[in-house]
Amino acid sequence: MSSQAYATPVVDSTAVFKDNLFAGKVLFCTGGGSGICKEMTRAMMRHGANAAILGRKLDRLTASAEELSKDTGKVCLPLQADVRQPKALQDAAAKTIEKFGRIDFVICGAAGNFLAPISGLSENAFRTVLEIDSLGTYNTIKATLPHVRATKGAYIHVSATLHYRGTPYQVHVSAAKAAVDATSAVLAVEEGPHGVRSNVIAPGPIGGTEGMDRLAAQGDAGRRQAALIPAGRMGDKRDIANAAVFLFSDAAAFVTGQVVVVDGGNEHLRTTQ
Ligand code: HXC
Repeated sequence: MSSQAYATPVVDSTAVFKDNLFAGKVLFCTGGGSGICKEMTRAMMRHGANAAILGRKLDRLTASAEELSKDTGKVCLPLQADVRQPKALQDAAAKTIEKFGRIDFVICGAAGNFLAPISGLSENAFRTVLEIDSLGTYNTIKATLPHVRATKGAYIHVSATLHYRGTPYQVHVSAAKAAVDATSAVLAVEEGPHGVRSNVIAPGPIGGTEGMDRLAAQGDAGRRQAALIPAGRMGDKRDIANAAVFLFSDAAAFVTGQVVVVDGGNEHLRTTQ
């Protein structure tokens, strides 16, 4: 079914925001080689920004960077880095500055996940996800903050909604994303006087992502679940990209330290049993 058939159709950000909104600006995006973060990067580039995308797999990053450049006419720099390695992030920030001369916007999006009960989760598995999501966010902030201060720029952290309640088989991600939310709030408070903003986007169920492929019910069960979402459909990666365009824009100049839940109302849904 076309998204136009839904009560809340998906739109491209270019249908709402002006084309050159981010002309001359530079985005630094961890996890930008795929999924939601790649789509956020595409939107920022469509509005005029150049970008550096970071991830562990250079072949995937390179292919994505070529696609994004071709699609938008802007420059996309693929940089191999594991967010668990502070030095790799510092090197990537230095290469971004060397190439573009500035960093205005940072998306902390690199994440790892799988389903496992506490009873079956090893200490190393728990630590691995915290290291990618939480420590990776801290490392990304540390590597970029001087540059973002220089441009009075902004951060967006990609979190989740599953830690608002007890979500089974998700203790590692729940703990990790709670730390991400808290880190963003502190960053917003400490850096506000320097002109730096920090917000969280918490996506709900977003179709066509690795997270949903790994975690959500598939087939008929998945379709039944999607039909319950108040907005009447699954989220689209562009829904998250649109929120990012708003939060990075000057229209959000007084919005900082917030968690913006983009989930079609899913968090507020309580079904009768
Ligand atoms: C139990 C598991 C496991 C599983 C890995 N481990 N997968 N335990 N069930 N399915 C354990 C391993 O056995 C090991 O512990 C430890 O985790 C580290 O695993 P490695 O494979 O050595 O780590 P690494 O290569 O760094 O891989 C990280 C990863 C992997 C997170 C485990 O899945 C990954 O790279 N994912 C990146 C892509 C991804 O997950 N994207 C989806 C993001 S979606 P032991 O004890 O054996 O040493 C997302 C959205 C969240 O984050 C919100 C959704 C609603």
